[in-house]
Amino acid sequence: MQAVRYHEHGGTDVLTVEAVEQPTPGEGEVLIEVGAAAVNPVDTYFREGSYPPGSLPWIPGSDVAGIVTGVGEGVTEFSEGDRVFGTGLGNNRQGTCAEYVTAPTAMLAPLPDSVDAATGAATALVGVTAWQTLVEACGLGPAETCLIHGGSGGVGHVAVQLAATAGASVTTTASAEYHDRLEELGADHVFDYRRADLQAAVEGVDPPDVILDHRLDEYLAFDAEVAAHGARIGAIGNEDSAATFSDVPRCRSKALSVHHVSMFNTPDVSAVLTDLATLMADDALTAVVARRYDLDGVADAHRAVLADSYLGKLVVEP
Ligand SMILES: NC(=O)c1ccc[n+]([C@@H]2O[C@H](COP(=O)([O-])OP(=O)(O)OC[C@H]3O[C@@H](n4cnc5c(N)ncnc54)[C@H](OP(=O)(O)O)[C@@H]3O)[C@@H](O)[C@H]2O)c1
Repeated sequence: MQAVRYHEHGGTDVLTVEAVEQPTPGEGEVLIEVGAAAVNPVDTYFREGSYPPGSLPWIPGSDVAGIVTGVGEGVTEFSEGDRVFGTGLGNNRQGTCAEYVTAPTAMLAPLPDSVDAATGAATALVGVTAWQTLVEACGLGPAETCLIHGGSGGVGHVAVQLAATAGASVTTTASAEYHDRLEELGADHVFDYRRADLQAAVEGVDPPDVILDHRLDEYLAFDAEVAAHGARIGAIGNEDSAATFSDVPRCRSKALSVHHVSMFNTPDVSAVLTDLATLMADDALTAVVARRYDLDGVADAHRAVLADSYLGKLVVEP
């Protein structure tokens, strides 16, 4: 099969398309013919070696959607021909930017017939992250108010829909060109994160009970100022090391809590994926596919995921 691989850590130039042996599903695993993979910032951290994967050479890619073409021993959940989507790959096992990939059933769920592979792959990692943050870590309630930083991002644009579907009032921040689309996706208030008066703008609407923050070092003090008393902050960024409560006495006076979320620390994501699939089948949630690439374009997608601005997700179709 054809796969994208890297034999050493480094920039996008280490990514090559090669013929490699098709994997065989082990116990509890299925073989998937990849219809689509998606690109996430974390793929670039693995490639650079800042989150070291298991061994080299390595196939990047966390998300997948496709068709089951083989089942390993003990698999009862899926059969050949089933459409599935999943995430959490490409970390301690080979990734999804390939024509075929094997995956444990705990990382998969059935993909609804009405959802195409590109949308399924685009939804998986960011959907699980948004769900774990808003629903599980922060317990967002239907009559609450939610602030989502970076609403046009992969996580952000799915989180906006999830919070709106949960019945919350949604405030989000994004570049001006995305405001109309984010209102269509369910945001009640959208503010440009570059506004000098951003705090005053956010304070002009109901104070958030839940905040999804992808840049805690930059926004913890801001969050503490705008938050409702007792608010929960869900922190997903990979550069949250410097932000601490001791920096922000207001966190204590407002009884705020910060919940750090890491999707890759969750061994079984199938239940959350199944809930996301239900929402997708009900047209209550979708990922926006911003750009599509073939395997030869994965290096360009790795560059774009960090450098370019777009609303939604970058998808790879082998
Ligand atoms: N913990 C986890 O499990 C987990 C899971 C997924 C992602 N993450 C992390 O969460 C972060 C976001 O991931 P993603 O996939 O959503 O990335 P993404 O698709 O690249 O989105 C990033 C968003 O941030 C916006 N942004 C840029 N500068 C900003 C600023 N100063 N203030 C507010 N927003 C700003 C961008 O808007 P413009 O394009 O308009 O500038 C863009 O919409 C990354 O650091 C990623 O590694 C963590």
